[in-house]
Amino acid sequence: MTTLAQALQQEHVDIDAGIDGEGTMLDAIAALRRHIYLEEELLFPPLREAGMLGPVMVMLLEHGQMWHLMDELEPILREDPADPRIGSLRRDLVAQIEAHNPKEEMILYPQADTALDEESSSELRDFLEAGSMPDGWVCDRA
Ligand SMILES: [Fe+2]
Ligand SMILES: [Fe+2]
Repeated sequence: MTTLAQALQQEHVDIDAGIDGEGTMLDAIAALRRHIYLEEELLFPPLREAGMLGPVMVMLLEHGQMWHLMDELEPILREDPADPRIGSLRRDLVAQIEAHNPKEEMILYPQADTALDEESSSELRDFLEAGSMPDGWVCDRA
């Protein structure tokens, strides 16, 4: 069976591919928002309980930065996928993700399979499988 750490890391890989791809950025942005939702609502609370306050705090701040960038990028992409501003915004988003994901993968995700009790862990698995972010949800530091 796939560990939670592996499943979460796979989401990073899939989202990165979508952000790099042609015509897949809007879907990747939606996937990144959903990924941030599941982290902030389902993963971080039990990790915080387990004592990882500092790392969780840093991740929340970085999510807020990514969220703002996505808010800027998304309407431009919808309006005109050839808009020249997209290139540099995309690079900024990729740079933020590149600074963020390795920290989660090294510090937080390895705890996911040990720090979460059975209920939290099955809730997270169910969401990874089929959950969707509630309409209008915004991240903690948006
Ligand atoms: Fe994150
Ligand atoms: Fe993540």
